[in-house]
Amino acid sequence: MHVHHLLEKNSIANTFVAQLRNVNIQTDRLRFRRNIERLGEILGYELSKNLKFQEEEIQTPLGTANVPLHKEELVICSILRAGLPLHTGLLNYFDAADNSFISAYRHHPNDDEEFEILVEYLASPSLEGKTLILADPMLATGRSFVNVLQALEKMGKPKQIHLVSVIAAREGIEYLEKSFPENSHLWVATIDENLDEKGYIVPGLGDAGDLCFGSKKQH
Ligand code: URA
Repeated sequence: MHVHHLLEKNSIANTFVAQLRNVNIQTDRLRFRRNIERLGEILGYELSKNLKFQEEEIQTPLGTANVPLHKEELVICSILRAGLPLHTGLLNYFDAADNSFISAYRHHPNDDEEFEILVEYLASPSLEGKTLILADPMLATGRSFVNVLQALEKMGKPKQIHLVSVIAAREGIEYLEKSFPENSHLWVATIDENLDEKGYIVPGLGDAGDLCFGSKKQH
């Protein structure tokens, strides 16, 4: 898997990641979602440099211009629910892409720290021969991405897979490398070194789904 680490080079993207992490700023849900969306746009732009382009003649009012345009059939698949703002950011740029939605959540069968990933909902077009962009802002253990990949198998074999994430744990990246095809790409804003005993990224930013949409707790 080819790993592309956006914050390796300083840019305006640092500001968006800093605001996502900052406990005093991340409570503003609109800003939190928008920052993830902005990173989806930037990561999508970076990813686009890796697509195949073909020159097309474009008629202008004054003549013709030859413009290389990407021709691949793209499907953006986001993991519910935290993937939604990242999905929006990607779709802002790849506006002609088809879309998939899949749910994956951590189920704690014994009410302790052990968990399994359950995938329950999938709405997707065929992925056969397409370029698949899989979006989840937090790549922690990597188990969600791997379970999602298995669940998507029945939709056909994509010719290329791009994973897009905002924060990835080193351990999660290593786990993905065992399951995803070698020619896959991971586009990630930043990489953290640790996971805590609950499988949360440290320093990370907390629970991205809750910060986007509110707590799921019943009380
Ligand atoms: N999901 C999150 O939202 N945050 C983490 O740190 C790990 C998984």
